[in-house]
Amino acid sequence: MKKIIITGALGQIGSELIVKLRSIYGADNVLATDIRKTDSPVIESGPFELLDVMDAERMHTLAKDFGADTMMHMAALLSATAEAKPLLAWNLNMGGLVNALETSRDLGLQFFTPSSIGAFGPSTPKKNTPQDTLQRPTTMYGVNKVAGELLCDYYYQKLGVDTRGVRFPGLISYVTPPGGGTTDYAVDIYYKALETGKYTSYIEQGTYMDMMYMPDALQAIVDLMEADASKLEHRNAFNVTAMSFEPEQIAASIRKHIPNFELSYDVDPIRQEIANSWPDSIDATAAKNEWGFKAQYDLDSMTKDMLDKLANNK
Ligand code: SER
Repeated sequence: MKKIIITGALGQIGSELIVKLRSIYGADNVLATDIRKTDSPVIESGPFELLDVMDAERMHTLAKDFGADTMMHMAALLSATAEAKPLLAWNLNMGGLVNALETSRDLGLQFFTPSSIGAFGPSTPKKNTPQDTLQRPTTMYGVNKVAGELLCDYYYQKLGVDTRGVRFPGLISYVTPPGGGTTDYAVDIYYKALETGKYTSYIEQGTYMDMMYMPDALQAIVDLMEADASKLEHRNAFNVTAMSFEPEQIAASIRKHIPNFELSYDVDPIRQEIANSWPDSIDATAAKNEWGFKAQYDLDSMTKDMLDKLANNK
């Protein structure tokens, strides 16, 4: 039975991951932590503690007192915020990760943290981006992610920590809106489609990025953490993806349900530059072969579910 401590529990991934993990492992076996407290169901449905991931001592104490055997480190600034506040991003994204890895080393915890398609850069092959390839990102977020991937490899190889991780593409969900990402247009577009029947995209027509529906992302985390260690060649930073699309394609998918949906453009140069530096479509063969990764949702099945769920949430 796992006893899991999670940082960034109220964030885009954390708030849904907690619900899933509590349903699998039992509410009392999943300690949610975040720097803030909201009225999220995460706080009511099981143990919750305030934690600033920069506070190494409190992180260690909470994990130890809880009797954790697993750490899932989700707290981080996303790409556009990191670009606006690069020094804060370096300090928080790297400082938080080091503290979480050190806690895991000292207490013998299994460890998960997500990397991202942001770990790739303009010199990376754009199509069918291989698992092992050139990684020279040009964003602070990307610099953090590559350094994080290497650090997790180091903690496994040299310090014996059971580190595991994936490179997530843009994640789409109807529960917690993301904050400060580049792929977030593909979330906002569903909200606006239902509210107003139109959307103005800050990402230019023809810009392809990888995406995945949140239920597939959560299942990927559970599957990787449960995977037989002897089969894992890569351990950290597995490419995972479910689909690759550009704004017109998501609009066309929405029009199958809202025929008059209108898409226009007002491109944000900063987020467009970030998107241009990322792959169009990544290759997830290593994840499939080493631990059986498989996404259930494609663009149309995701669109249907997103619109149904958002309409019911109103
Ligand atoms: N969704 C993230 C972002 O756009 C990518 O990891 O920042």
